[in-house]
Amino acid sequence: MTERVPLIATDDKIRALIFDHASDMIVLHHLDGRIFDANKSLCETLGYSYDELRDMNAVDIVSPEHSLRISEVFDEIVRIGELIFESVYVCKDGTRLPVEISARMVELSGNDFILSVGRNIAQRKQEQQALQQHASRLAAEVEQSRERLSHNEKLVTIGQLATSVSHELRNPLGVLNNSIHYLSMILNQEDNRSGKHLRIMKREIEECRRIVDDLLDFSREPVLQLEEVNLPSLIDAALEKVEWPEHIRVRKVFGAEQISVKVDSQRVVQILVNLISNAIQAMPHGGTLSISMECNRKGATIRIQDSGVGIEPKVMSRIFEPLFTTKSKGIGLGLALSKRLIDAHHGKISVDSIPQQGSTFTVWFPLS
Ligand SMILES: Nc1ncnc2c1ncn2[C@@H]1O[C@H](COP(=O)(O)OP(=O)(O)OP(=O)(O)O)[C@@H](O)[C@H]1O
Ligand SMILES: [Mg+2]
Repeated sequence: MTERVPLIATDDKIRALIFDHASDMIVLHHLDGRIFDANKSLCETLGYSYDELRDMNAVDIVSPEHSLRISEVFDEIVRIGELIFESVYVCKDGTRLPVEISARMVELSGNDFILSVGRNIAQRKQEQQALQQHASRLAAEVEQSRERLSHNEKLVTIGQLATSVSHELRNPLGVLNNSIHYLSMILNQEDNRSGKHLRIMKREIEECRRIVDDLLDFSREPVLQLEEVNLPSLIDAALEKVEWPEHIRVRKVFGAEQISVKVDSQRVVQILVNLISNAIQAMPHGGTLSISMECNRKGATIRIQDSGVGIEPKVMSRIFEPLFTTKSKGIGLGLALSKRLIDAHHGKISVDSIPQQGSTFTVWFPLS
């Protein structure tokens, strides 16, 4: 416990000199919190007259959350002699003022008082807050950089994987294709069953080729071969490339009009096949796939809408990430690659989805 300091501020001159000229807010409390004396700075800052303050208690000038603890704080000061703590003063007009209070026991004419010196720390608080915001911004940037790094690592891995997988698989796939071609020539054309199985094999080889091509395309910057083409005919080409399960209905919502766009037609078909395949896979129990198209002076928009499982909000932000998939047999390259190809065309892709109701992917290509 520290020594109690006898206060000699009863002398008017000393009072004027020290007490009222101090920029800190000084107040002398009885041990039960009543205000015995207060300096000019406290009166002016809080907006109370000296006489008003003399009728008040410590609980009346601090904020409600601090007033609840004030008797505890006073007991602590009495027990250990002095205490430095933060609090909030409330001015007469309701303004809140964060303060750092340095309080200590003093003795005046044989009586014990608590002398409290308050310093306005609003600016310090603001600076602390700004510093905290800055720190959390920095933390977010670090997190983003970390994600970018792991994203780049993924791309490098895909690149290495793509090169080796494509070398390993391209040749055997070509050989298989030739063999199927040979078998279909020598086998009896009227034998429906072997014909059916040959078609299945051909289709599956096509699917393997698609995966290998996606991997290869992903590992290098797309180089586009632009040409003027009729967009509806590209959509028809994509629809023809896809294997349609029986339980899915297709609705084409566009007429026979010509819409001429300058694109890499093979790439655009590749994008559409990816989006249509996703839509089909999203409707395992059947449904409707609608493809609509519209065009204005600036560009052409294609919408691919399914009535499938939809996309959960927590998954939505990740669907364009390479290698992100929710499917047991998926690789997670379809959308990432499609977006890259659309970006290379200076186009845009967006998605709207309602879980359990379906999704709509919208692709836009500029006209010039
Ligand atoms: N039409 C859709 N309906 C519901 N979910 C979709 C749809 N399209 C994409 N998704 C979600 O986005 C994920 C990523 O799609 P993406 O096409 O990139 O990969 P994938 O289809 O899983 O595999 P891959 O296309 O490489 O075979 C899917 O796994 C699925 O969760
Ligand atoms: Mg896909």
